[in-house]
Amino acid sequence: MTTTADLWGAHEAQFWLRGQVPEQPVSYDAELGTWNVHGHQEILRMLADPATFSSDTARLMPELTDPQDGNILQLDPPDHTKLRRLVSHAFTPKVVADLEPRIAELTGELLDQAEPGRVELVTALAYPLPVIIIAELLGVPSSDRDLFKKWVDGMLNSSMQFSLTNKDDKQQKELDRVLAEAKHLTDYLAVHVAERRRQPREDLLSKLVEAEVDGERLSDVEVVNFANVLLVAGHITTTLLLGNTVLCLDAHPEQAARVRADRSLLPSAIEESLRYLSPFATVARATTAEVELGGQVIGPDQLVLGWIAAANRDPRQFTDPGTFDAGRDPNPHLAFGRGAHFCIGAPLARLEGRVALNLLLDRFPALRTDPADPPRFTPTPTMTGVRRLPLLTG
Ligand code: HEM
Repeated sequence: MTTTADLWGAHEAQFWLRGQVPEQPVSYDAELGTWNVHGHQEILRMLADPATFSSDTARLMPELTDPQDGNILQLDPPDHTKLRRLVSHAFTPKVVADLEPRIAELTGELLDQAEPGRVELVTALAYPLPVIIIAELLGVPSSDRDLFKKWVDGMLNSSMQFSLTNKDDKQQKELDRVLAEAKHLTDYLAVHVAERRRQPREDLLSKLVEAEVDGERLSDVEVVNFANVLLVAGHITTTLLLGNTVLCLDAHPEQAARVRADRSLLPSAIEESLRYLSPFATVARATTAEVELGGQVIGPDQLVLGWIAAANRDPRQFTDPGTFDAGRDPNPHLAFGRGAHFCIGAPLARLEGRVALNLLLDRFPALRTDPADPPRFTPTPTMTGVRRLPLLTG
């Protein structure tokens, strides 16, 4: 019988634990033409130095991306600083904290719909919850979520790692398909942004359109691109976080018992799940100059992938990195990144995780995976987590 641990083993070996930490925290992949950074301290150095490790990776692969005017993830200081201040003005801690009752209500409604005795967690809760919350927050109809899902799945369900050096026809076709799906989503958002410009409402899109810092406002393209990042992030990462945390607890019954007995441990169990199975496995940067990192010399204009999922298991940083410890403290994981681009949605992801998982544990005291119907992982190398998680509830 295949156990959950076997599945993880296969998943990890296939994707992000290929690098050797600490023997080789930085290495070059000649086939893909990219640098891989697997060490915790080396990734921290990368993320703390945007002048050398630029977020403008689109520069290296113009054919890979649409013009990303104002995409926050692709900007460096000072442009990034300006945009981040503006969006932070609209997406405040209070906006997130006020969502708690709605997250609880929606979780209850979604779980009510589960059939007796079993639940497929991703379809029932982990996917719809974050998507409905982010759609309601932005002010786009959450009833359109099947459309977003189609486009976002189309963008993300590529199992290919694109090569910078040898691009063949198959890769080019796959790229064109991914870009077409991305355009559907931006076109859709552009219609809503134009509407808010004409007639603001009480939603985040209107707040973004109206946000003003030092007399500066966001352009329509900037609002669309930021909303796009929120919607895509809202779809995948928190979905993976919810599924991964349930899976981690299922595979470690003694840790699950600790958390069930003392719910104040749930937030640290969520942090440990983020470390142990990091949803965003990589952050990408482009070098602007020659730089030494982890004993290697990296030239200018190189694509550097920081494998945060691997750094979160770096034995130089974490004691017993392969052990899932629901009470791990301190836990300086990099799952939300670090520095200027630190995840702006982290408070929302943590809130959704805490509220939804608390309710799930309350509702199902005997929740467990189904040996006859094992979990399935995402096929994308840069994402870690389950896309299907059948559970027995009775
Ligand atoms: C940035 C991870 C949830 C919005 C990031 C980064 C990481 C990350 C690693 C840094 C990227 C970089 O340095 O290049 C995650 C994980 C999540 C999560 C693991 C859930 C478990 C969310 C949610 C939202 C969101 C729910 C929005 C609602 C963003 C945005 C940025 C970002 C806008 C860009 C910030 C900037 O460039 O200044 N996230 N994220 N994330 N995340 Fe998240």
